[in-house]
Amino acid sequence: MPTVDAIWTFSIFRKLPIFGVVPQAQGRRRSMRVLGINAIFHDPAAALVIDGRVVAAAEEERFSRRKHGKRPLPFSAWELPELSAAWCLRQAGIDAGSLDAVAYSFDPGLCRDAAELGLVDPWDWLRIEYATRAPQFLAEALPGLDPDIVRFVPHHVAHAASAGLAAPPDESGTTASAVLVLDGRGETASHLGGVYVEGRLRQLASQQLPHSLGLLYEDLTRHLGFLHSSDEYKVMALASYGQPRHLGLLRDLIRTTDDGGFTVDQIDWSTLAKPRGADGEMTADHADLAASVQARLEETILDLARWLHEAADGPATLTMAGGVALNCVANARIAAEGPYRRVWVQPAAGDAGTALGAALHLATVLGDTTAAMPGVDLGRGWTDDELEAELRRAALPYRRPDSIAAEAARVLAGNGVVAWFQGRSEYGPRALGHRSLLAHPGDPDTTRRMNDIKGREQFRPIAPMVRAERAAEIFEGELPSPYMLFVHRVAPAWRERIPAVVHVDDTARVQTVDPATEPLVAEMLAEFDRLTGLPVVVNTSLNTAGRPMVDTPREAMELFGSAPVDLLAIGPYAVHRTDLGTAG
Ligand SMILES: [Fe+2]
Repeated sequence: MPTVDAIWTFSIFRKLPIFGVVPQAQGRRRSMRVLGINAIFHDPAAALVIDGRVVAAAEEERFSRRKHGKRPLPFSAWELPELSAAWCLRQAGIDAGSLDAVAYSFDPGLCRDAAELGLVDPWDWLRIEYATRAPQFLAEALPGLDPDIVRFVPHHVAHAASAGLAAPPDESGTTASAVLVLDGRGETASHLGGVYVEGRLRQLASQQLPHSLGLLYEDLTRHLGFLHSSDEYKVMALASYGQPRHLGLLRDLIRTTDDGGFTVDQIDWSTLAKPRGADGEMTADHADLAASVQARLEETILDLARWLHEAADGPATLTMAGGVALNCVANARIAAEGPYRRVWVQPAAGDAGTALGAALHLATVLGDTTAAMPGVDLGRGWTDDELEAELRRAALPYRRPDSIAAEAARVLAGNGVVAWFQGRSEYGPRALGHRSLLAHPGDPDTTRRMNDIKGREQFRPIAPMVRAERAAEIFEGELPSPYMLFVHRVAPAWRERIPAVVHVDDTARVQTVDPATEPLVAEMLAEFDRLTGLPVVVNTSLNTAGRPMVDTPREAMELFGSAPVDLLAIGPYAVHRTDLGTAG
């Protein structure tokens, strides 16, 4: 197995003259600037790393308002995250001409013919062609950019870096970790197992296509009538309603191998449950199939994680990325049953996170020491004055209370719904207290109301946020959990007190809130606790059906105007529905 450095040397500098000197290594400027780009499949995104630190990262969907940015078709591979990339540069006050390097999270030079890989993807060559031309497309999209500074980073190396390099050190200050990438597909593989030591990745395992846990789950998603490469989390939620009665069969069809990989045989889903159309009836057979695949997925990932622990000489921390690492039920099981003391999952574990990972990886290759990501609030933000100007423009009756956190807590305590727009927006699919829709967890009807506002299926759970210091008395499992990437069993004494956030299997997908990093959210939770005796609030993403999360003040006001939301808490300002005159 070649080392990642070897792969990198081949792929990244392939375009340089043989006797050339790496331009960035020669006479390095004081401030190294690397832009990361994800564009190849879906969730296009951009991230900017300066001097090894992530200064901005955003998904294109928050700008273009197209959910997931684009569909993962070969025909769309040329589309770049132009708006988010341009914003990253503006945020840092630099232009494309002053970048040192651009890291593109896919290396067409590593690709092979799709049929050779066992994939049915007759237009895959077009995807590779577009990727090859990405430097020219990028130069077109970002005026002033020199196409020769664009470097290709292998897709799973980018995912791995988004985990191993972005994770904070453990409590002893150690940054070394095992890293597990669980994906649909990259250039030729679907998975990577490795270890990060002193910022360098050593690859220990890689599963070649067509065997893929991500593609398996996508295929099931399609069979169950959901949108693949988008709605996999619905299958995970559905699984908790079923019995894993096909687990024995799936153990025969999905097997781990002794080199840290796995095989997935062809599965005819129709023999296990009828294909369901988008509006078709959901039956117990569908739930049982989802439960069976989910259970086998968990077992398989546990095996991979155990193999990796041994191969990597027993590191204390496992870091994870790749779309499958957004499966918070599987993550919880790895944390509970796996051999690691700590499991850290990149919050933008899907392909969006490869923009950040590619940039971090290239920064290390170019000689920088990188720092862990500071949090997920890496997107757009507005000053108080800018927010006030937007409210005036919209002619909305707003107030500036002494404390917006206390104002929101009062509305929540009265069973109102709050649109919470604070600070910079989140990178990744979860709302984590910056673009959130909040509600009372004690009313069993809250789930229905929130799913109605958001146009979601009623079987979908809604999630809680909790003050970090109170989390352990209410929720079991991997804590703290600041990014909502694990499910946790709810303590029996609390289930009836917070019924809105307890899923059918008595679990909840918790976000723990640390006052040191999220002081405003922590203050709101503390005030809600004082008023109700509950240190927990319902937190879902600030969006309505099928739309990306709200990013701008105007989008927040549009949502407030079109959904039964009682308070818009935008920066320090409060807009109450009862102040709107005829409404309320
Ligand atoms: Fe990926």
